[in-house]
Amino acid sequence: MTIVHIETKNHQLVVSQFVKLFRQLLAKAKNDCFETKGKTFLTEQLMYFIRRSQPIEMILPGFPCKSPNTNSKVFGYLPDRGEEIALEYLDNFCEQVRKFYAPGCKLIIFSDGTTFSDLIGVSEETQDKYNTTLKNLIKVRHISWECLDSFFSSQNGYDALREQLMSQYCSLDKQQVEAQIQNDEQIRQTYQGLKNFLFQDNPWTNSNYPKTKKTRLKQSGEFAKIMIQRNDALTKLLSEKFPHHIRLSVHGHNNSGPKFAVHVLPNDYRCITPWHNVVVKTSDNQEIMMKKEEAEKLPLTALVKRHQQPWYFLQSTEEIWSECELEIINPPKTGIRITYKGNDNQQKPDCSRLNSKTLQNLCLEYGFVVLRGFQVDSKEHLVEFSSLFGKPVIWDFGPVHTIRPKERPDGYIASREAVPLHWDLSMPPSYLETSGRYEDFTPQFFILYCHKAPANGEGQTTVVDGRRVLENAGSTKVEAWKQIEIDYFTKLTYYGGKKHSYPLIMQHPITGEDILRYQEASSSKLQTFELSSQSLPQQDFQQLITELQAKVYDDSCLICHDWQQGDLLLIENHYMLHGRTAASDLTDDRELWRVQLLPHSLPQKSISDISKKLDSNKVA
Ligand SMILES: [Fe+2]
Repeated sequence: MTIVHIETKNHQLVVSQFVKLFRQLLAKAKNDCFETKGKTFLTEQLMYFIRRSQPIEMILPGFPCKSPNTNSKVFGYLPDRGEEIALEYLDNFCEQVRKFYAPGCKLIIFSDGTTFSDLIGVSEETQDKYNTTLKNLIKVRHISWECLDSFFSSQNGYDALREQLMSQYCSLDKQQVEAQIQNDEQIRQTYQGLKNFLFQDNPWTNSNYPKTKKTRLKQSGEFAKIMIQRNDALTKLLSEKFPHHIRLSVHGHNNSGPKFAVHVLPNDYRCITPWHNVVVKTSDNQEIMMKKEEAEKLPLTALVKRHQQPWYFLQSTEEIWSECELEIINPPKTGIRITYKGNDNQQKPDCSRLNSKTLQNLCLEYGFVVLRGFQVDSKEHLVEFSSLFGKPVIWDFGPVHTIRPKERPDGYIASREAVPLHWDLSMPPSYLETSGRYEDFTPQFFILYCHKAPANGEGQTTVVDGRRVLENAGSTKVEAWKQIEIDYFTKLTYYGGKKHSYPLIMQHPITGEDILRYQEASSSKLQTFELSSQSLPQQDFQQLITELQAKVYDDSCLICHDWQQGDLLLIENHYMLHGRTAASDLTDDRELWRVQLLPHSLPQKSISDISKKLDSNKVA
């Protein structure tokens, strides 16, 4: 009896936690009935899974294909940032459930384009490309995919698929639909909405389509009635095939059940979909959706591309952004390049003209930012620009480290050799160690400026996205890594000189996220970099290093930046690791200037002190 009581109590706890989370997912209607009716309906559905200790299952028809209206609504026929955010958001909802309900939560996305793509003039090929790209867009943990092909033969094309759906599941004939439109206010509104959508979105390029606006409107009305019939059939099919699944919808509902309207953007609570809109990231870093033609009218925006495809609009507060081209370097989210595209005859614009808050947000999101085509006049100018992102670390040679090969190098940094992966200020000299706490002496950002570029394809700066490494490793491995601490030692050059120990996984001092803190060994004759650990037996430690090396050098995590003269790199030092590839005799004069930045809130020397310390001839 006691056991039953505890089970019931636990079940109720899971239900109440799920409902609390689910409320945030709901797109609320004016006549919303979730609290009065929908919650009871949802609770019964939840109990079906919870009593059996099964994953909670949900289904969402949607993600059909892009609207063919590329003039005013969307960028093109392939998924973009809108779909990416929506999938991340839905997958993350399921992940949140897993944290309080061990069996977890699964979501089926039923890609429903086939039910109406012919009515808006989208070809089978275009629809297939959208779906294939969508499934490979991000690494999802809890989402699976279904479509009509799962239940009917697609051997004879999509027309045949639709015929099978309609013959087996549609119970509404055309007269019944027309009667509903006459007598039911809600159906009438749905009909009008579909009619407008079909009229606007259909490109009407087929020679069989009517030529005049009046006849196209009439045709859209006929198509809308067919759409209502097909939607009826699809609803019945899904109820039969997925009788216990919680039924989500991207269309407005009063949320009394069985259908629950959800929003697919974290901060946009409307029933608005990525396949009819584009994403705008506002100057306060919020992502919202709107029609492309509306976004194009916004001031101070830049277009962000991914694989040369328009991805989203970025809004800032500076005019210069609209003269820049932005490209994500290693999708989905490692590195972004900002290239000034203004008139070549003009002088390059001062890098400080880019709003530092927007740059900082981009750096936090993508791990590092490349600025190309901007002016840096001097080391003083670089320090002034860098100071927008934090307080420069003042070494005994000043805030700027000039990195170029020496004739007699005292270590690999001042040579043409490769530099092993590390994070900056991992081996601080005593005078920079301050309290000894990682967060007090480790810069959050650092900037590299290319004063003289190396020969093509060598002397590249290597950047590893530690977030991606952890994602690839998976949560079980990351938890195991949290038990490991690694000891590092290198001789004193301008840094090093004593052993420093770091847990392999630490927490980001500002966001609290897990971060990878791994440095690569070096057996260079100029300077060794040694690793050891008290946490593991020697053999296990060697296996760990082999595994880590494979993971950090994985193509999905590593970028080799080919320097061009004048390039600036802004790197987030907690998320990322970096190093350098070796250079040949051709690269005698590679010269980078580096400034490291601690958060503004930490006590540091003032900027007026810094300029006194600048020594342009110093090569550290
Ligand atoms: Fe470094």
